[in-house]
Amino acid sequence: MNLWGGRFQEKSHKKFKDFNNSLKIDFRLFKEDILASIAWSQILSDASILTTKEQKIIENGLKNILKNSFTKEKILNSNSEDIHSWVEKELIKKIGVLGKKLHTGRSRNDQISTDLKLWCKSKILQLLCQIKKLQSHLIKIATKYQNTVFPGYTHLQRAQPITFSFWCLAYFEMLERDKKRLNNALENLDLSPLGSGALAGTSWEIDRKKLAKLMNFRTCTNNALDSVSDRDYILELLSVASISMMHLSRFAEDLIFYNSNEANFIEFFDNITSGSSLLPQKKNPDILELIRGRCSTVYGGLFSTLTLLKGLPLSYNKDFQEEKRNLFLSIDIWKSCLEISILVLKNFKINFENCTKAAQKGYSNSTELVDYLVNKKVPFREAHYLVGRIVLKAIKKKKFIEQFTLKELQKYHSCISQDVFEFLTLEASLQKKNSFGGVSPSRVQEALNNAKIILSNK
Ligand code: ARG
Repeated sequence: MNLWGGRFQEKSHKKFKDFNNSLKIDFRLFKEDILASIAWSQILSDASILTTKEQKIIENGLKNILKNSFTKEKILNSNSEDIHSWVEKELIKKIGVLGKKLHTGRSRNDQISTDLKLWCKSKILQLLCQIKKLQSHLIKIATKYQNTVFPGYTHLQRAQPITFSFWCLAYFEMLERDKKRLNNALENLDLSPLGSGALAGTSWEIDRKKLAKLMNFRTCTNNALDSVSDRDYILELLSVASISMMHLSRFAEDLIFYNSNEANFIEFFDNITSGSSLLPQKKNPDILELIRGRCSTVYGGLFSTLTLLKGLPLSYNKDFQEEKRNLFLSIDIWKSCLEISILVLKNFKINFENCTKAAQKGYSNSTELVDYLVNKKVPFREAHYLVGRIVLKAIKKKKFIEQFTLKELQKYHSCISQDVFEFLTLEASLQKKNSFGGVSPSRVQEALNNAKIILSNK
C-alpha cells in the first residue's frame, strides 16, 4: 500500500511505480530522514500531539532503525516509494499503530528539503576537511621543492622562470577560495524548512525555531511557500563543486603537460599510471585525465539542475526528485577527485635537470634585460624594442642571450656593461620578483608561512 492509498481504488501500475519511485537514489538520506523525524516527534510532543511517553517510544523506534545498520540492498528490497515512506513503514513495523502519528502536520515537501539540507551540511564539512588535506599536501611539496626552478608559461610559451613551490602555492590559493565559497554556501543553507507543511505552513502549534535548533540549524526559514520550493542551496553547492572541479582539472592539465615527453619535468610512479594495450612504451597519466574528464559531469550536474528549476511554478513539483541524482553524483565525483589529487602528489618525482634546462631556454630572462636597461634610464618601450632585436638575433644564432659577448650586446645600447650578466641568471630573475605574492625565495617563504598559519587555524 502506498502512503497515499485512501483516495485510490486501483493499484499502481508496476511500470508507473518503477518510474515514480525514488528510493534507489534517496536511500542515501536514510540517516538525515531519521534525525529530522526524531526532532519532529519532539516538537509534536511540545504541541501535545504526542504524549511524552508516545514521543519516547517513537524516538526509540527511530533510533533502533538507525542502529540496525540497514544495508542499501535491504532498503532497496523494501518496495517503498522513497526514503520517507520507508522510514515511516519501518517505524510502524517496529512500534505498531503509534508510528502512524509521526507524520502529523508534516509533508514530504518540507521533509525532503530538510533532509537534503542536513545531507548538504554534513557533506560540506567533509569536503572542507578534504580540501584542507589537499592543501596541506601542496604545502608539503612546496616546502620540499622551494629551489626547483622550471618555466612558468603564458599561452603555453615559456614566459618567466618560477619554482615548483610557487606553482603549488597557486593551487593552495584556489582551494582556499573554494573553502570560502563552501563556507558561504553552508551559511546560506543553514535554515530549517521543517514545519512549512506542504506549502502553506502547518495548523498545529509548532515552534519552528526550536525545531530548527533541535536539528542544529541556525534558525528556520521565513516563508513556507518559498521553503518547499527553494533549491538554491543545491545550485550553490553545485556551483562551488563546478568551480573547484575546474581548479582540479587545471591542476591535472598542468601535471599532464609537465609529465609529457615534450616537457619531461616530472614523472609519475608506476603505481598511478597505466599502460597501453598496443604501445608497450607508454605510461599514461590516465588518473589525471579522469579528473579533467569528470569535471564535465559535475558541470552537467549544475546545468541539469539549473534547467530543471527554470520556469517551475511554485511550489513543490515532482521534477525536484530528479535533482538528487545530480547532487549525489557531482558531490561524489568532487570528493573522490580531491582524494585522488592527494594520491597524485604523493607519487611523482621531479627531473631537476630538465626543469632547470627548460627554465634557461625560451629567452625567459628577456624581461630582466629590459629591466636592466630601464635601470640605466632607457625608456621602457625603447628597452623592450631593443631586447626584442637581441632575442631575434639570438634565435638566428641559436644562442641564449647570456651567451653574447659584452661587445655584441653593447652594439644595441652603449649603457650595457659587464654587470649585465649577473642580471641574466635564473637566480637573479627569481630574486628580483620580490613584490608581495611574487616568486622570489623570500616571498615564497613568506607565502609558505602564511599558508601554514591558515591551515593551522580551524
Ligand atoms: N520523493 C520526493 C522527492 O524526492 C519526496 C517528496 C514527495 N512529495 C510529493 N508531494 N509527492 O521530491
